Amino acid sequence: MNITSSAAWQAIETHRQSLSSAPLRQLFADDPDRVAALSLSFEGILFDFSKQRMASNTLPLLLALTGEARLAEATTRMFSGEKINVSEDRAVLHTALRRSGAPFPSAAFDVMGEVLPTRQRMADFADRIRSGQALGFTGQAIRNVVNIGIGGSDLGPKMLGYALRSIAHPALGVHYVSNLDGAQLAPLLQTLDPRTTLFLVASKTFTTQETMLNAQTARDWLVANLGDAAAVAQHFAALTAKPERAVAFGIRQESVFPLWDWVGGRFSLWSAVGLALMIAIGPQAFGELLAGAERMDEHFRNTPFERNLPVVMALIGIWNTNFLGATTNAVLPYNESLKYFPSFLQQLEMESNGKSVGIDGKSLTYATNPIVWGELGNNGQHAFFQLLHQGGRLVPCDFIAAVRSDFPLPGHQEALLANCFAQSAALAFGKTADEARRELGRSLSGAALEELLPHKVFVGNQPSSTLLLSQLDPQTLGALVALYEHKVFVQGVIWGLNSFDQWGVELGKAVASSILPAFADASLAEALDASTRGLLAYSRQHLA
Ligand code: F6P
Repeated sequence: MNITSSAAWQAIETHRQSLSSAPLRQLFADDPDRVAALSLSFEGILFDFSKQRMASNTLPLLLALTGEARLAEATTRMFSGEKINVSEDRAVLHTALRRSGAPFPSAAFDVMGEVLPTRQRMADFADRIRSGQALGFTGQAIRNVVNIGIGGSDLGPKMLGYALRSIAHPALGVHYVSNLDGAQLAPLLQTLDPRTTLFLVASKTFTTQETMLNAQTARDWLVANLGDAAAVAQHFAALTAKPERAVAFGIRQESVFPLWDWVGGRFSLWSAVGLALMIAIGPQAFGELLAGAERMDEHFRNTPFERNLPVVMALIGIWNTNFLGATTNAVLPYNESLKYFPSFLQQLEMESNGKSVGIDGKSLTYATNPIVWGELGNNGQHAFFQLLHQGGRLVPCDFIAAVRSDFPLPGHQEALLANCFAQSAALAFGKTADEARRELGRSLSGAALEELLPHKVFVGNQPSSTLLLSQLDPQTLGALVALYEHKVFVQGVIWGLNSFDQWGVELGKAVASSILPAFADASLAEALDASTRGLLAYSRQHLA
């Protein structure tokens, strides 16, 4: 059934029409209990969604969608290891990667027998590097680790590595290389000593062009500098679901760490793909990260939907997208250490739910995932916030901040938080013409005042949620990431699509492989379109 023809959907649409003239100012004035009613908390996380354009009876109406979409059954199917990723015929069990023990998802189909020993091997490997026991080909201790991977094999560990750098090993350098552009790898190699560098080749498929080319270049560099191909054994490890390909690349079996087809790339940071992160922060902190995510998994599975953070967050997104017509969602961390969180979320959300075909293969008749974008909030204030305040577009925002600083400096943290809170308040409540006139009246009058007045008015009513974390520790961050993962799952279920495949990225890869040979053999360009032929001709001219 098309969810938009359900009674629940129709009731929300009717409600939206009745609410359309009530701005956030009025909603706050009408309900003194609004903040208590429209906020939730989970351990170290406060989720305040009182500044969403919702009345007190909006959420109950939205909750009815979970029944229409059979969310409870879908959740049970995911956690029980059913192959809910139907187009790839795979189970979706990234939640197993953060479990502390016991057979999962069932005694009959238990993946923990592979998960726990792999986690232990990762910990042993990480400890040996952290303690300086792991030696390179020339007998010197490893001092720099380079994770070569892209997409899900890069963004999660990189994001969390930066978020947790206050607890990272002080003497180890951990670097991330993803881009095909040599401008990322080449300057990094110039700073590294091959005798003390370890490369982790992170690729679920071990075929991704970017990763394979960077890994090959890194290997050539290592062998050229150490003068012996045998050096590869001590300087490369692989994180992959295709161990045989890693071994064929020259990586020794004991340095290959597996993941499995039931772990999606963008959900893989909890697996061996997190090894660079584990090396940076240590196995114990990595374990705390997993524990935080596991706590969120349990919250998601066991909490009534009206108090369930991922469910409520998902419904807010659906309200903004499908009923208010928002086409984007801004992610605005007020914390330098969350710099990479927006790009991590871009993959998690847009690769999962950026689809217009339902799980049944039929075209969807309604909007799905908004465009997720974002930047550090404080920097954004002095760049693009102008548009959020006065550009006239609906842009729902996620403000994210940590109360306690991970790098405290006198006076900084209160000022940072004040800016975070001020921006969401200013976006929500704006400034009326009367208020602006009163303010301007202190220094202007007459025509000069009236001329300036329209520029000083802020319409407000821009919706936002604020996620306030007690601090950026591994456990809280684990819960935060799992919160967004489950939000994505819930939205996918309600939109009736498969959140766990990504066929949309394939066409570009295939086209690139048909263009590449035309650089070497111009005759191959004839089969290509006119624009590509022109771009190739110009490039060949300048490459020559
Ligand atoms: O091209 C998209 C994608 O398949 C992502 O889903 C994935 O995270 C990324 O490429 C990297 O894939 P792999 O880990 O197999 O190299």
